[in-house]
Amino acid sequence: MIFRTLCSSLLACSTLSSAAAVKETLCEYARNPIGVDSPSPRLSWVIESGRRGELQSAYQIQISTSVERLKAGEADLWDTGKVASSQSIQVRYSGKSLVSRQRCYWRVRVWDADGKESPFSEPAYWEMGLLAQDDWKAQWIGFSPGWAGHALYFRRDFELTKPVLQARAYVAGLGYYELRMNGAKVGDHVLDPGTTDYSKRVLYATYDAGGHLRPGRNTIGVIVGNGWYGMPKLLLQLEVQHPDGSTTVIETRGMISDPKERWSVSRGPIVKNSIYDGEVYDARLEQPGWETPDESRANPTERTARWLGAHPIEPPGGRLVSQMMEPIKVVSSLRPIAMKEPLPGVFVFDTGQNLSGWAKLRVRGPSGTRVTLKFAENLSPDGTVNQENLRVAAATDVYILRGGKEEEWEPRFTYHGFRYVQVEGFPGRPAPESLTVRVVRSAVESNGDFESSNPLINRIQKMVWWTEASNLHSIPTDCPQRDERMGWMNDMTVRIEQALYNFRLARFYNKFIDDVRDTQDTNGAIADTVPFKWGKRPADPVSASYLLLAWSLYEHYGDTSAMARHFDGLRAWVDYLVSRSDDLIVNYGSWGDWAPPAKFSVSGSVGGGAISAQTPLPFMSTGYLFYSARLLSGMAKVLGKTEERSKYERLAAETAEAFNRKFWNEAAGGYANNNQAANSFALFLGVVPESRRGRVLANLVKDVEAHDGHLTTGNLCTKYLLEVLTENGHADLAFRIATQESYPSWGFMLANGATTVWERWEHLTGGSMNSHNHPMMGSASSWFAKYLGGIRVDPADPGFKRIVIQPHMVKGLEWVRSEYKSLYGVIRSEWRRDGTKVTLRVTVPPNTTATVHLPSGPGPILEGGVALEKASGVRLIRREAGVAILEAGSGVFEFNSTL
Ligand code: BGC
Repeated sequence: MIFRTLCSSLLACSTLSSAAAVKETLCEYARNPIGVDSPSPRLSWVIESGRRGELQSAYQIQISTSVERLKAGEADLWDTGKVASSQSIQVRYSGKSLVSRQRCYWRVRVWDADGKESPFSEPAYWEMGLLAQDDWKAQWIGFSPGWAGHALYFRRDFELTKPVLQARAYVAGLGYYELRMNGAKVGDHVLDPGTTDYSKRVLYATYDAGGHLRPGRNTIGVIVGNGWYGMPKLLLQLEVQHPDGSTTVIETRGMISDPKERWSVSRGPIVKNSIYDGEVYDARLEQPGWETPDESRANPTERTARWLGAHPIEPPGGRLVSQMMEPIKVVSSLRPIAMKEPLPGVFVFDTGQNLSGWAKLRVRGPSGTRVTLKFAENLSPDGTVNQENLRVAAATDVYILRGGKEEEWEPRFTYHGFRYVQVEGFPGRPAPESLTVRVVRSAVESNGDFESSNPLINRIQKMVWWTEASNLHSIPTDCPQRDERMGWMNDMTVRIEQALYNFRLARFYNKFIDDVRDTQDTNGAIADTVPFKWGKRPADPVSASYLLLAWSLYEHYGDTSAMARHFDGLRAWVDYLVSRSDDLIVNYGSWGDWAPPAKFSVSGSVGGGAISAQTPLPFMSTGYLFYSARLLSGMAKVLGKTEERSKYERLAAETAEAFNRKFWNEAAGGYANNNQAANSFALFLGVVPESRRGRVLANLVKDVEAHDGHLTTGNLCTKYLLEVLTENGHADLAFRIATQESYPSWGFMLANGATTVWERWEHLTGGSMNSHNHPMMGSASSWFAKYLGGIRVDPADPGFKRIVIQPHMVKGLEWVRSEYKSLYGVIRSEWRRDGTKVTLRVTVPPNTTATVHLPSGPGPILEGGVALEKASGVRLIRREAGVAILEAGSGVFEFNSTL
């Protein structure tokens, strides 16, 4: 099973012809996107080739205004001609300038390593969105008096006198909306639009609505809930193109006297909606047919007196920006694994997995029956749900039956973080099919996989994957269940890398980094949470995440756009930290290495404060000033900003000196309190002078041993602890920490029933800071990918153009199978160790090169059964103690060596 992927690739190798082919053409990381609002979108493609060492030597892109022209080779927008280049990702469009709504059809061909050309790719397209604010003719509408708690229902009838060629609906509805036309939902977004600071940016989505419209009477219906905004507001512009070249535009406007053009508003069955508290739906209040044309009544207000004219309303203030990232969707549905009845009439469904989403109810019963669904991560001893740790979030949905036939319902404007659903008031006894669990998150692609011979590691990996998956809701949230769900920037500092190994987040992070900028004050300070709702501004200096978002987009996707767009903001944040320092010792901090095991936290008691009692805040803050300055200097280098590069390099060097002066503890031979966090952080930063490294490392190892192979670190330094031990010859010890089953460890969480990572190392279920689904403690997963699988980025050649494969074959593991889907294609590192015999199988995608670190004694190395020297597409660069360093072009390689 472990090598199944290899065999299929080998098979493919032998049957494929050697010619390269171009697949997976992406524009702005998406397949055939509409609503692109970048004036010069970026293109990428994946090359397939059946032979080793495939490299692109040249490419040609053609872009046309119609698919016919494109096929005829008439590239009236852009023809690059043959460009001698190996670039196959992040290629910027620079043809004729593009206008709003423009459709661009494109194809690309490549020349392989021998100069042989591939066929053109299948035609792909993208379509521009509304590039200028004045492309919007629509007006924000709402209902000024409001109906507190209720969702608003907007509708408009209109007539189309001609056939429909194509239609686009541009929609922003705050807080959340659902777009419907002629009785059906348009598209598959839920909880749309993505959240932002609406006073700065409002995201609009572009829908292909053509299939919903027809000549004659049509109806648009939009339900708008509170979401993160509050009083619902709607902006919509529908543009219908007809075959004769004319366009009909229907847009939101308030106070229209002509009933034929009027947008009407009403309330309906959603009588309460709140992200934290849940939704109450009274099906008896439905107005059947409200979003379908009513032929018998031309005047919608006659439909029922409950429809009033919508009001023009104060716009939220932010610029309208296209929602280029993946929308939130129902990504899968699960059946609960069990149902119990702990109290008469109280049924508790167990999903078997902590997750984010909601439940879809199927029920039949008398009208007015009230079915309540309570969501929770934990159970009380009596078997009912324990919602204490949700704090004030009610996390309760209520469905009031219409009565009669079987009814199906799921909420629209809330979501929950839960494993258990308690059903009360159900008429009769629910059947297993009465409840379907809907998994809801930003529909980003899962792009990594990791499996090993150690079942515990596999369970930890799965637990982290689900934790990250539950916390992608248009922003990276800290938790999905309680009254919080904030984009905490301190957590992100260690979370980004884990998330990137598990999901393709190019679009998601390009959006989120813009959200960060929206929190930035004129003095450069960013906020603790993004959008800024909780915590403080200035953010804790540990929030190097602002820089790491930009840097990681560069490392993982070769994307320099975020660092270029944000350079001034990033610099302002670093300068702000300097302004808050005394002789480069940063003089404030709020969270530091947050939430270490309770006895190392300030209160020292379980359930108490989560600030580390041992790792000083200024120590962490100053370390992060160094780290941030160094990252900034690295970005200045990439962007060719010579002056800034040396300025921030100097700042980093001076900060490192200040750090050493202040926090080096000569007597102890370590930093600050000489604990795990301090010593691993200093080593991770690379600020420890050579003469001290040995002592610091020895102290670190000693401390881990003194805790019987357990960590004492919080959300940040846990990542550094594992990495630093591994980088410094103690991978086995890192593995021991990672595979503990006693407190504090991930295994302890699993042993106590966790299916997602907890916020605290302790098992707590009370009403405080006790989330059971918190990605900040999930860095074990990036350690698995980077060090056990050993798939790593080479920052000198980013985007995985050059891949480093450097697995650590730790004691206790027999095999690992890991993969990562890069923009160039799938990278695999699969190894097996049998006594002293090692097999390493590596898949290197076309147009990339890998540096492979193969554990090996001085003996011979085989590849594909032949001596390495005879193997094609790979060569030995050098040998270091116990490792052979090889360079491989694309292809699938199987190495055998002996330790
Ligand atoms: C959040 C954490 C965050 C912390 C910082 C908590 O409320 O859930 O994720 O690290 O605040 O104070």
